[in-house]
Amino acid sequence: MNNRIWLSLAHMGGREQEFIKGAFDTNWVVPLGPNVDAFEKSLSDYLDADRHVVALSAGTAAIHLGLMLLGVQAGDEVICQSFTFAASANPIAYLGAKPVFVDSETDTWNMDPVFLEEAIKDRLRKAGKLPKAIIPVHLYGMPAGMDKIMAIANRYDIPVLEDAAEALGSELHGKRCGGFGELGVLSFNGNKMITTSGGGALVCRTEEEAKRTMFFATQARDAAPHYQHSHIGYNYRMSNICAGIGRGQMFVLDEHIARRREIHDLYTLLLKDIPGITVMQNPSDEYNSNFWLTCILVDSRFAGKTREDIRLAMDAENIETRPLWKPMHLQPVFADAPFYGNGTSEHLFDIGLCLPSGPTLTDDDIRRVVDVISRKNSH
Ligand SMILES: Cc1ncc(COP(=O)(O)O)c(C=O)c1O
Repeated sequence: MNNRIWLSLAHMGGREQEFIKGAFDTNWVVPLGPNVDAFEKSLSDYLDADRHVVALSAGTAAIHLGLMLLGVQAGDEVICQSFTFAASANPIAYLGAKPVFVDSETDTWNMDPVFLEEAIKDRLRKAGKLPKAIIPVHLYGMPAGMDKIMAIANRYDIPVLEDAAEALGSELHGKRCGGFGELGVLSFNGNKMITTSGGGALVCRTEEEAKRTMFFATQARDAAPHYQHSHIGYNYRMSNICAGIGRGQMFVLDEHIARRREIHDLYTLLLKDIPGITVMQNPSDEYNSNFWLTCILVDSRFAGKTREDIRLAMDAENIETRPLWKPMHLQPVFADAPFYGNGTSEHLFDIGLCLPSGPTLTDDDIRRVVDVISRKNSH
């Protein structure tokens, strides 16, 4: 049996251990310290020096605190892109608020501005108030159409929390994802562009927001010599050990992005003449995805096989692939949530597949994947 090819493995650049050792040597083995400060600073320099970045225990924690910062409370409605991982929407429920799901547009696969506006107007009619926040997602690294989304959000004065968990390094007309909304979310989970083994960050516009994030992330402790609390808090800070990994990973971020884009280009080249297979592309020069994962759509009428045929054939060849995210409005747990759309994300889910795309993938690995896709028979 050939070696297993994984969807997206972490890759250490080499300097991570230097920063971890520094933390041990100085006994900063706590959820704050020099690695946390330096990691936050380098993320803020990377994204937009005007932004204030707070490192947290997970991207999910960042979404949770972000929604709190935007004032989301029990009974409020929050608009969320339906085509995403459950972590984009779960924190809405943590707060006792209600998700309202919006479908995707066909070119970016992200939040469709037309359905966004329809949802806002309809919720105003039906719920009698505006949604409290909007969560667009840059899925698989592809920037969402932030100009149109921000214009609508501004028109109705609804803040945007931008889920850039998969999009570190992606750009829309030269501006990096994570810096468009009032707040932005990053993830450093094991399979992301860079990892801290597990972690995330909230990107804030103001220092005040960053301070409030830190306050809620450290059990909401009031300014008093004893432990005094006027708010419910959380234990969401990133440890100085994990931040050491993150500091090291920042040295290889550009390399990782370049390699994932190269992998996407090679798939595009090798799959270009295979009937019924389309590789997801930047819709125009304005978009510059990090291609966190390269995704294909399978039109079985021309390919002679379905997405599932290909996934099973890959599995038999010891290659990990994954269907595109199952939209949130189709998830049993969100069955009662309102949805605005026309079936685009459902169709993408039916025919889409994520291909192995991690930075350690070799060109020969990619050829092995392409061989399975291009076989005449499904098995
Ligand atoms: C789109 C999206 N949002 C949020 C998250 C949550 O990030 P984390 O796993 O760091 O909690 C992830 C990844 O896991 C994700 O892919």
